[in-house]
Amino acid sequence: MNDVNMLDTYKQAAAEAAVGAVESGMVVGLGTGSTAVHAIRALGRLLQEGQLTDIIAIATSEATAHEARAWQIPLSGLNQHPTVDVTIDGADEIDPALNLIKGLGGALLREKIVALASKQVIIVGDYTKRVGRLGERAPVPVEVIPFAQTPVAAYLKSLGARVIPRQHKGDLFQTDEGNIILDCYFEAISDAPALDQALRARSGVVEHGLFLGIATQAIVGGPEGLVYLQP
Ligand code: 5RP
Repeated sequence: MNDVNMLDTYKQAAAEAAVGAVESGMVVGLGTGSTAVHAIRALGRLLQEGQLTDIIAIATSEATAHEARAWQIPLSGLNQHPTVDVTIDGADEIDPALNLIKGLGGALLREKIVALASKQVIIVGDYTKRVGRLGERAPVPVEVIPFAQTPVAAYLKSLGARVIPRQHKGDLFQTDEGNIILDCYFEAISDAPALDQALRARSGVVEHGLFLGIATQAIVGGPEGLVYLQP
């Protein structure tokens, strides 16, 4: 098995373990990305087998909604179901306190909204997602309204970031909400709460990919099996 397939096996094991937290009658937040998709499929299988019933799902992206529909998972929205029992989502980096960087899949805005509406947020991933300090490997994605791209990019540079506008097929990447993403490389982030405040202080920034104090558990797959982490 090559490395990518091996990592996918770890992701799948973590995602399937997280689905064990779902009970019949729950409202479930469905994350976005190559790990979260395994949770969607596992949930779909359990519903089809009748092992779970009366689930309502809230999708964190159009791609996730599409996958959920393929599995006939009933979908709703936060306006109808403002409290989510459990959300299962991936992450790009997980620090020892379960602070996260998310959004390399471009869905950070809806992901944060759904996570903040959730009683439990279970983060799933392979072991390469664990870092000593946020920003070691991943950029912090910052979702920005297109009108504000240039001044916000200048502001982000003033905070010490190397700013790369995210591209897709030769054009600017567009989020489900019609915004753009500026990927901000900070190397290691020494004060994540201060950066969180500085990012949210700027008009034109819609949301960013630092998820601080939001995860209630992480399940990480690796060569030694699953590791269960608490904040
Ligand atoms: C999407 C996300 C994803 O959860 C994150 O990028 C991890 O993705 P993957 O499971 O494919 O590694 O935040 O916006």
